[in-house]
Amino acid sequence: EKGNYRHFMQKEIFEQPTVVAQTLRSYIRQIDHSVALPQIDFDVTSVNRITIVACGTSYYAGMVAKYWIEHFARLPVDIDVASEFRYREPVLEPGGLALFISQSGETADTLAALRHCKEAGQKIAVVVNVPTSTMAREADLLLPTHAGPEIGVASTKAFTCQLAVLAALAAHLAVKRGRMAREEEMEVVNHLVETPACLNAALAHDEEIAEMAHLIAPARDVLYLGRGPDFPLALEGALKLKEISYIHAEGYASGEMKHGPIALIDDAVPVIVLAPSGPLFEKTVSNMQEVRARGGKVVLISDREGIEEAGEGCIATIEMPKVHPLIAPLVYAVPVQLLAYHVACVKGTDVDQPRNLAKSVTVE
Ligand code: F6R
Repeated sequence: EKGNYRHFMQKEIFEQPTVVAQTLRSYIRQIDHSVALPQIDFDVTSVNRITIVACGTSYYAGMVAKYWIEHFARLPVDIDVASEFRYREPVLEPGGLALFISQSGETADTLAALRHCKEAGQKIAVVVNVPTSTMAREADLLLPTHAGPEIGVASTKAFTCQLAVLAALAAHLAVKRGRMAREEEMEVVNHLVETPACLNAALAHDEEIAEMAHLIAPARDVLYLGRGPDFPLALEGALKLKEISYIHAEGYASGEMKHGPIALIDDAVPVIVLAPSGPLFEKTVSNMQEVRARGGKVVLISDREGIEEAGEGCIATIEMPKVHPLIAPLVYAVPVQLLAYHVACVKGTDVDQPRNLAKSVTVE
């Protein structure tokens, strides 16, 4: 049931503080502020490499996880879209953990990759939202998200719940590998615990984003830029927009603009820049200024500090709460989801059932 909401997608966007909190509860021990996986009989200390495989939005969650796992646990991570994975003849050596991320747990390409990895002797970990799914049954290490049923074809709450699980996994791997001291673990847990409140703060910008959607809706093309763990969010923002509003959109690592895509910039192409203040901010902002200098219309999504520093001359800004870089990808998911949603509403497209798409893709 949609309750007071116009669309399932809208309802699911607004459910995120609740379902992310619900998901985190099974990965965090409140009593001592530690991270723990729900399945305790799985020893992660022997893992020497992680291979992540997924499709679409779930793949973007995996891209964020690569940054986190490499940063915190210092484990090498490979990542592929599932439809490409087997065809590159991946080298899968003993000690490898293959990690599959899927809302439905039934996506054909991801499932085929899972079986390929199992055959090759990899341990199988699965981040999945449907506990009765095929992938859940075939996992050695089951890492459930508790997003509840996701009805809208465009994935929203499943994505942020995947990120919550993956952040906890990265911290758990780091602790077990002796890469994260007790104090840092408690700090990470505190940031994760704050996430639902930060998601609420992001959701509070709904009306403002609905207004802003009128600026974006007439565009033929829209670009999204981000750097580091927020680069996958740029890809996710572009995917959400194209899938439900049918506006052509692309996400780029902000530093890649000058290697080609900047040629696309003129005053008809809105550029959405995701740039939380922090260590990567200055570089992203200088890429943004290059876009502005060529007449690009920039929407800056940042925190107060970032907007004060770089917001001038943007056609719009969206102020996010100031958050730790670890949880920024979860919080910044909200404005890109809301923007896509409201642009689709302005255009009058079918938000919950976009053309040509199915909720669960069970053919390769
Ligand atoms: C985008 C979207 C798709 C799915 C992809 C994988 O909004 O929903 O890109 O993320 O089809 O599906 P799952 O996660 O079920 O494997």
